[in-house]
Amino acid sequence: MIFKNLKIGNKNLQNRISVSPMCQYSANDGKPSAWHYKHLGSLVCSGASMVVVESTAVSKVGRITNQDLCLYNLKHLRELKKLVKYLKNLNNIPIIIQLSHSGKKGSSHVPWIKSNSSLKKNKWTTISSSKIKKDEFWPYPKAANKKEINQILYDFERSAFFAKRAGFDGIEIHMAHGYLIHQFLSPISNIRKDDYGGSISNRNALPMSIVHKLKKITGKKMILGARVTASDHLEKGIKLKESLNFIKLLKKEGINYVCISSGGIKTKTKLNTKKKGIRVSFAKNIKKEISNLVIGTTGNLSDLKYLERVMKNKCIDLAFIGRPFLKNPNWLLSHAHKNGELKFIPNQYLRAF
Ligand SMILES: Cc1cc2nc3c(=O)[nH]c(=O)nc-3n(C[C@H](O)[C@H](O)[C@H](O)COP(=O)(O)O)c2cc1C
Repeated sequence: MIFKNLKIGNKNLQNRISVSPMCQYSANDGKPSAWHYKHLGSLVCSGASMVVVESTAVSKVGRITNQDLCLYNLKHLRELKKLVKYLKNLNNIPIIIQLSHSGKKGSSHVPWIKSNSSLKKNKWTTISSSKIKKDEFWPYPKAANKKEINQILYDFERSAFFAKRAGFDGIEIHMAHGYLIHQFLSPISNIRKDDYGGSISNRNALPMSIVHKLKKITGKKMILGARVTASDHLEKGIKLKESLNFIKLLKKEGINYVCISSGGIKTKTKLNTKKKGIRVSFAKNIKKEISNLVIGTTGNLSDLKYLERVMKNKCIDLAFIGRPFLKNPNWLLSHAHKNGELKFIPNQYLRAF
């Protein structure tokens, strides 16, 4: 199953493993650096059928750190266009950009400098659905007013338009891991009393408007995906039933795939990050209920015998794999070779297998 084709929108993936988006915190003034060429260059030749580029900020206030990749001005567009051209010359597989707004998780230190902590210098005031701190030692964000909500919508639209011009094959909207869209979706972080808070449909309102606007830009030629949260892993948070209904709405708006993730709205939750295939059971339940939508998931999926079983049992269509590709960008190639799937191995490397 792993090496079977998979259609997403009008693109044909040559197997069912995608590189998961992974922040590198290595941009220069929002633009890709030499590190991005090295990092993504090896990943497009890794045997994966698709690469999702790291969380990319739609605005200055929407960055996580001062070193984030960004796509909100023409300089970002020009440099990302160069990067896409370089990657496509190496291997012409679908390259997706993950667009995101950090919300109250912004103004952070780069994690290897100081993890889970907000900046004291070069900081900015973050924005969220409600004035609730991310965690105890974090500053209060500003609750977005109507004008700021319209600006957020516009920022996503502008970045999507730039992503199309840069030559990306698709866009993944980051709606999980406690970032701004998730902050609107979750009752843990959204206690608004207006049209964007309270009922489930009000909490869904901004995310759905973003999807609606972006679908108009991506149309039929580009892939539109979303990383969504199946559960907040908290008593009063989002549960599977609610996320299932949300994904049905995403499908109606023309989303081509979802990557089922979970957690992140609070630092400490009941999520067991050590478990194999952490979110497979969520994905399985969602796939059972929703047909004609590519369902992927992420988290501890690198045991390929296990993954083969998970795919055969129709739990997921696509695996988004992260850390194993960082540790060894060629790990999938050896497995492909064992399965006689030589077409995934670059000709230049064939003698090594
Ligand atoms: C260094 C690093 C950076 C990450 N950055 C992002 C990101 O930009 N966007 C995102 O949705 N997930 C991000 N993640 C989560 C991964 O995409 C992936 O879902 C997670 O690592 C679980 O998959 P794995 O067990 O295969 O690593 C990141 C993970 C790592 C290790």
